[in-house]
Amino acid sequence: MAVSIKSAREIELMREAGRLLALVHEELGKSLRPGMSTLEIDILAERLIRGYDCIPNFLHYNGYPASVCVSVNEEVIHGIPSKKRIIQEGDIVSLDCGLIYKGYHSDAARTHMVGQVAPEVKKLVEETRNCFYEGIKMAKAGKHLHDISNAIDAYISQFGYGVVREFVGHGIGTKLHEDPQIPNYAQERRGMKLRPGMTLAIEPMINLGRADVEILDDDWTVVAADGLPSAHYENTILITEGEPEILTVLK
Ligand code: MF3
Ligand code: CO
Repeated sequence: MAVSIKSAREIELMREAGRLLALVHEELGKSLRPGMSTLEIDILAERLIRGYDCIPNFLHYNGYPASVCVSVNEEVIHGIPSKKRIIQEGDIVSLDCGLIYKGYHSDAARTHMVGQVAPEVKKLVEETRNCFYEGIKMAKAGKHLHDISNAIDAYISQFGYGVVREFVGHGIGTKLHEDPQIPNYAQERRGMKLRPGMTLAIEPMINLGRADVEILDDDWTVVAADGLPSAHYENTILITEGEPEILTVLK
């Protein structure tokens, strides 16, 4: 499938989808506290998304049962909200959420620290965010897709972390997952040339220990095989002639 180039009108809709998701993430982040269940986060996420007259795009996606993925500590991605899973002081909590605004999708993830977190885990969370920003330095017209992958890997590898390989970033637009796939680890080929109007979800998933992951018996939750913490950071971005526009942060 060819990678879609969004028109000016589509870009406006993507911007609004992104802005509303940034607002949702801000509220979700503020709501986090020890003692709450991960299901409470999902209830809030769905209420916020529908309150903006948007649709939760994760809900029922390939049978996924919630509006947000809540992945705690060694959980990498796709943690299913549950009233039995209680957030504790010292946890890191990855919230991955998305919505549809007038037919256009946005997708973003943040890893939050609840209270005091071990220093090496705090560094993992911060560097996971930083490697996203290193990657998107390459996200401009004329560069190639894998310049982004290589920049993420080159930056994050200096810390000895494990870069998750089984899951990758992706194009996004009228569907949650469009071409191309965007790995977070170095590639031999340079990949396609980036063009203005491409909208991409860049999402490094970084493990404190080894890169290997496993899927739990719920068939969704992806965990670090060695049980060490994992962080996730994702934004939907727009390729322009110059600097990329990050659609899922508040300006
Ligand atoms: N945010 C995820 C991604 O980027 C999508 C979650 S899949 C779902 O691919 F099933 F949980 F929705
Ligand atoms: Co995504």
